[in-house]
Amino acid sequence: MSVGIDEISFYTSNYYLDLRTLAEVQQIDSDKYYQGIGQEKMSMAAPDEDVVTMAANAAQPLIERVGADSISTLMFATETGVDQSKAAGVYVHRLLGLQANCRVVELKQACYSATAAIQMACALVARQPEKKVLVVASDIARYDLDTSGEATQGCGAVAMLISASPRLIEIDPEVGNYTEDVMDFWRPNYRTTALVDGKYSTKIYLKSLKKAWENFVEASSLAFNDFSHFCYHLPFSRMAEKAHKHLAKVNKVGLSLEQVEQQIEDTLHYNRIIGNSYTASMYIGLTSLLENCKQNLAGNKVGFFSYGSGCVAEFFSGTVVAGYEQCLHTLTHHKMLSERQEVSYEEYLNLYRYPDPRDGEHHDMPSATTGRFRLAAISGHKREYVIC
Ligand code: CAA
Repeated sequence: MSVGIDEISFYTSNYYLDLRTLAEVQQIDSDKYYQGIGQEKMSMAAPDEDVVTMAANAAQPLIERVGADSISTLMFATETGVDQSKAAGVYVHRLLGLQANCRVVELKQACYSATAAIQMACALVARQPEKKVLVVASDIARYDLDTSGEATQGCGAVAMLISASPRLIEIDPEVGNYTEDVMDFWRPNYRTTALVDGKYSTKIYLKSLKKAWENFVEASSLAFNDFSHFCYHLPFSRMAEKAHKHLAKVNKVGLSLEQVEQQIEDTLHYNRIIGNSYTASMYIGLTSLLENCKQNLAGNKVGFFSYGSGCVAEFFSGTVVAGYEQCLHTLTHHKMLSERQEVSYEEYLNLYRYPDPRDGEHHDMPSATTGRFRLAAISGHKREYVIC
């Protein structure tokens, strides 16, 4: 029996900052961002958006197709959760009208946890093939202003339906894992922005890729040349290029620049204009590949490298299912991205600094998102979500 991704849909905010604007303010060459890190725009969450509203917005089109009652478990992956105790997915459960017998849980391990959720979802479905699991990954990437990480912010959510006989990607059971206790990127409970040792984090990413791959080939009969495309975790798009060249070198495979591009470029279109979305980024990369690759991918093997700082990494593989192109949400995604509104540097600062009330008083949030779900108020330390 095959198990995997049956449907995939993503959401990002309707506001973005062009990194040329940031470069201008910083008086540096914008090519550092456009070419050096491969990022053009970064999505900025509206004051009435958070990981809950983004996740519900990502999942809504998928629920409309399959029906709320078909979901037996909701797994919510995030590293920017809104509560230390309550799973963000419980709010999403109500907003989507899921049935009361649906199990909900939140998972955390930096940018990796969506992959853990998918593997656990596959195991649940393998045990009870009639069940469907909704995996949502949602994050707002925030670094301090005037730090090297600032240009790699962003926000987004992705929703995936995991089922038996999936219509998009059959996920192979063999995986390669690597875990090491390191401090490359972290966010203590008292901080709203991440701390990062930037250059070190890229080195640990590449080391983890090699280690996870080596563990993968011990378990799988697949070799580097069996894959037509590779989806990498995307803290910034250029990281995929560095990772892919590294993996080719580990495998002693000589790749031309054209081959490198052919194997990863279509995974990057959305990330370049959304920015980092932590847990969601690799899966938005997969969506980008499925929706933008001119070649018919049916039957092709795709390699996935999921990385979460701290660190946990996983390499796994999947096969694209014939007819996948009929199950995508391409037009909705392209429309959402093309209708976004550019913000000035001042507007970006206002969004960045928008107050996060903590005094327990009643605070209405301004209506700013174009999404279907919004955070209407924070009152008595409770978050109040509404369907628009
Ligand atoms: N034209 C073209 N290229 C230019 C340029 C110009 N005018 N100016 C600079 N560049 C190039 C540089 O040569 C460099 O390329 P190489 O990497 O090939 O050497 C690239 O642009 C970046 O320049 P710097 O190395 O000088 O950039 P930086 O030090 O300011 O920042 C960074 C780079 C450390 C990755 C920073 O963006 C950062 O801290 N990001 C956040 C951390 C991060 O994303 N880490 C990734 C691994 S951790 C992870 O994956 C988890 C996660 O999601 C956070």
